[in-house]
Amino acid sequence: MQERAFALKRAGKTISCVPTMGFLHQGHLSLIRAARASADVLVVTIFVNPAQFGPSEDYRTYPRDPERDLRLCRQEQVDIVFAPEACDIYPDGYSTYIEETDLSRWLCGANRPGHFRGVATVVTKLFNIVQPDLAYFGQKDYQQSRVIMKMVKDLNLPVRIEVCPIVREDDGLAMSSRNKYLNPEERQEALCLYRALSRAEELVISGEYSAAKIREEMEAVIGQEVHSRIDYIEIRDGKTLEPRDQVGEGTLIALAVFIGKTRLIDNLVIGKVPG
Ligand code: PAF
Repeated sequence: MQERAFALKRAGKTISCVPTMGFLHQGHLSLIRAARASADVLVVTIFVNPAQFGPSEDYRTYPRDPERDLRLCRQEQVDIVFAPEACDIYPDGYSTYIEETDLSRWLCGANRPGHFRGVATVVTKLFNIVQPDLAYFGQKDYQQSRVIMKMVKDLNLPVRIEVCPIVREDDGLAMSSRNKYLNPEERQEALCLYRALSRAEELVISGEYSAAKIREEMEAVIGQEVHSRIDYIEIRDGKTLEPRDQVGEGTLIALAVFIGKTRLIDNLVIGKVPG
């Protein structure tokens, strides 16, 4: 892949990249479509990255369907699919990691130790292998996108990061490969994340800016579902991820909720997503 990328670069071609863990859904396809138009050559990477899963997390059971993924990539006219094995990316004796140490501390980072270190490491490696000019990520993983933007800036990586809006099912559930884990009852209950965010938005529109009050109302929405357990509901600055007492332009409202055993995340940015 790296040799191909260098040859493309020598021929003056630009490369865009959509890093994924496969089991592609409409959210991924929206990234692929945005990336398609932006460069000469489009590379999709498919790699379930063991380094970003904790020991008790779902690395083994994470949904995989490589044939369907390839079919979808073909339909979307992806030029190259790079789908390495874990032993290609982390051969025996592998011992180098990248760690962003500020934005990674909060939210998902607080409850998933090592997660963003795993993400930062694999994304750096994928960038080095694929040599993209642009790379596309989804806003659903808001904190991930900020960590990657910060890492790219701090390490002077020559890649432009584009973040695309959350894609939702018709009823509002944010698309995620992990939605597959939900049984029909949990699938219904999972709507509480979107409902809680919609309630937050309503409150802000009606002039309620107190983070404590908004959080309390969101907790009440989530609490209505018997199989729900809040991991976090956070109201933060959309750029620095520092806590905010008052909601305003560029504030992030993010939540992670277990529905049964499945942990789902979703978020909303008030006004414009900060650059
Ligand atoms: O968002 C994902 O699917 C993954 O975290 C990523 C960015 C592909 C790194 O493994």
